[in-house]
Amino acid sequence: MKTKKILDPCCGSKMFWFDRENHDVLFGDIRDEEHTLCDGRELRINPDIHLDFRNMPFDDGAFKLVVFDPPHLKQVGEKSWMFKKYGCLSKTWQDDLRAGFRECFRVLQDDGILIFKWNEDQIKTSEVLKLAERKPLFGHPSGKASKTHWICFMKLS
Ligand SMILES: C[S@@+](CC[C@H](N)C(=O)[O-])C[C@H]1O[C@@H](n2cnc3c(N)ncnc32)[C@H](O)[C@@H]1O
Repeated sequence: MKTKKILDPCCGSKMFWFDRENHDVLFGDIRDEEHTLCDGRELRINPDIHLDFRNMPFDDGAFKLVVFDPPHLKQVGEKSWMFKKYGCLSKTWQDDLRAGFRECFRVLQDDGILIFKWNEDQIKTSEVLKLAERKPLFGHPSGKASKTHWICFMKLS
């Protein structure tokens, strides 16, 4: 498959992107949905490609940069705006995230960069990092409660 330099395999509504139409990025998600939030704003999850981050339809080494922002909540009401925005982890979340990390590293080229975003409201970042087969280089907590972590990995060859 002819592809792009950057992959966001669970893009949701692309909230963290400065340019949601960036042509260097392939946006993927398991959902394609539209919702009206309680404040009247529209939430559109409209990826370029439907995919499952546990088994991605790309060749090994296809991307230079992958940004992985999977669901981080185990418990969240199905009618809540959090569920609509972020989705929810399943009972098999450890296996799912382990497979997600494995796939992100597989589709990265050698020396490619993986940026992992995690909010540790329900699950500690340290617990989730154990599911990655590589060690992160550095990271930084952000947000009002410092619960959102941005973490950088490199696929060092
Ligand atoms: C935390 S949200 C992403 C938010 C996004 N980064 C943003 O800026 O708006 C996680 C997304 O992962 C998606 N997702 C959940 N399981 C998935 C899977 N197995 N494969 C691909 N996407 C998945 C959800 O549909 C949800 O949109």
